[in-house]
Amino acid sequence: DKGNYRHFMAKEIHEQPEVLGHTLSRYIDLGNSRVKVPGAEAVDFSKLNRILISACGTAYLAGLVAKYWFEKYARLPVDIDIASEFRYRETPVAKGEFALFISQSGETADTLASLRYCKENGATIGAVVNVPESTIARESDVVFQTIAGPEIGVASTKAFTCQLAVLAALALHAGRQRGTVSEAQEKDLVAALGSIPGLAVQALKCETSIEALALPLSRVSNALYLGRGTNFPLALEGALKLKELSYIHAEGYAAGELKHGPIALIDENMPVFVIAPHDSIYEKTVSNMQEVAARGGRIVLITDQKGADASGNAAQNTVILPDVPEIAAPIIYALPVQMIAYHTAVFMGTDVDQPRNLAKSVTVE
Ligand code: M6R
Repeated sequence: DKGNYRHFMAKEIHEQPEVLGHTLSRYIDLGNSRVKVPGAEAVDFSKLNRILISACGTAYLAGLVAKYWFEKYARLPVDIDIASEFRYRETPVAKGEFALFISQSGETADTLASLRYCKENGATIGAVVNVPESTIARESDVVFQTIAGPEIGVASTKAFTCQLAVLAALALHAGRQRGTVSEAQEKDLVAALGSIPGLAVQALKCETSIEALALPLSRVSNALYLGRGTNFPLALEGALKLKELSYIHAEGYAAGELKHGPIALIDENMPVFVIAPHDSIYEKTVSNMQEVAARGGRIVLITDQKGADASGNAAQNTVILPDVPEIAAPIIYALPVQMIAYHTAVFMGTDVDQPRNLAKSVTVE
């Protein structure tokens, strides 16, 4: 049931404050300012030298954000791979390692094959899944469930942000166990995670400004997305969403990679989405943005008020989000990224919930 929404995707975008609340309440104890990850006893993070992560599509991009978190908060290296590559690469996996698989459906063929490969090699298997009775959930040693509810739209929206919520909590849990996150830090970070549902409500309010951008965007044939740090995977996610929903060719790049090639693409017809909250690496991203502006690129800056004030006049359009704590940023910034793709597709008249050539669950390789 779509309720009052035109598409399942719109409904699922707007459900995010609620389902993020459900998911977070399972993984953080706000009253005691602690993370609590049911099932995490299965893994001793203090003994690990690395984590393996493998997934496909948007779930892979959630894993890419998690790599930044595990490395920063738990000082634990992450080897992440697209499942279709991982499964055939003959990666050495040793007994006692921890391998984590991320999947909304829990049925993705390549992710499942990667899981089985790691299992055969003696790894402990963890899975972040949305469907608890799925094959991936059944074959895992420990399941970290996302409480996103059924996701009907082919484009992953609420499953993605709930995956991020679970992964953030898991990274902090690992950090606590490894002694790299102090009690005081945990308290602040848990409060930051607890603020996410409320921030998501505020972030959804930028929908009107996004709708206004979507009409001109529906007439272009290429777009770029740029971000640094955890906003780099979001840039990839923005490009993936735009491609799958509106069939506009789009690419995401780490902002610092721009001058190593893609800047050659910039002209006055190229929209460039820059995802840059006013954080510790904001200045770096803005200098990349100025390089784009100097070559005539049409910039849409997605930032907060401070970021907007500090951006000079490089951006043609600015989408302003609430101020967010750094750990919450990838979750909150996912919302405008989803809405850009959604509204562009609506203007183009494509089949938003069931884009051409795509299936919700890819059970063949
Ligand atoms: O069910 P899964 O999370 O394993 O699916 C993985 C991808 O097929 C999926 O995220 C796909 O990329 C989405 N259509 C993206 O919106």
